[in-house]
Amino acid sequence: MDVFEAVASRYSCRAFLPTPIPEATIRNIVERAARAPSGGNLQPWRVHALAGAKLEQLKALVRARPELLPRGEGAEYDIYPPGLKEPYVTRSRQVGAALYQSIGVPREDRAGRYRQYARNFEFFGAPVGLLLSIERGMGPPQWSDLGGYIQTVMLLAREHGLHSCGQEAWTHWHKTVYSLLDIPPNDILFCGLALGHADPDAAVNRWRSPREPLEAFATFSGFEE
Ligand SMILES: Cc1cc2nc3c(=O)[nH]c(=O)nc-3n(C[C@H](O)[C@H](O)[C@H](O)COP(=O)(O)O)c2cc1C
Repeated sequence: MDVFEAVASRYSCRAFLPTPIPEATIRNIVERAARAPSGGNLQPWRVHALAGAKLEQLKALVRARPELLPRGEGAEYDIYPPGLKEPYVTRSRQVGAALYQSIGVPREDRAGRYRQYARNFEFFGAPVGLLLSIERGMGPPQWSDLGGYIQTVMLLAREHGLHSCGQEAWTHWHKTVYSLLDIPPNDILFCGLALGHADPDAAVNRWRSPREPLEAFATFSGFEE
């Protein structure tokens, strides 16, 4: 698969087949993704890969406390900045509406929306879950490096025929994640990443999020004809 195809075919997959993924495949992806650049080559990413019994253990810990949904243990950082403005509010609502429409959940069906949200904590049925953390002292440039690392994981996954979904929702269960994985107090969990083979029949995988046209976010100056 070439890079164009990897980029074009990636989407946030929210229903996976249970087909196990060999540890060697995940090691390969996680290791190669570290070729991602980082300012000063700090390589600030930390990756915790879970499968099998360990993954089940994490899911079971969340499942055991449904009364805490949707807020869980509380987010450790603002997923969106407080007072998010336009055009971002509309973009976020659009993608939410498309997601819930795909699975037949009307806007007013709060329970239905919570049910879909709770699928995050099943890693959407994926056989592999990554949890990505970074040292607390790191600033926006290093969080940006972590984002680049995550995108590289997502693209390498495509080379293996795998799909993925980033999951900031896991910040709501940070305490559970820290204690299960012995993550040191100096680290902060950024997000989870579900990894596996997409379920091609799942309605939730059969729509694509829109993008703004080029002119809306880029300018080009000084190029020769
Ligand atoms: C770091 C990160 C965290 C995300 N967290 C979640 C999440 O918790 N749950 C979810 O369903 N989607 C999550 N997403 C997926 C976004 O909603 C998705 O990337 C966006 O709507 C664009 O759609 P696309 O990825 O299908 O192109 C996350 C994406 C990223 C990059």
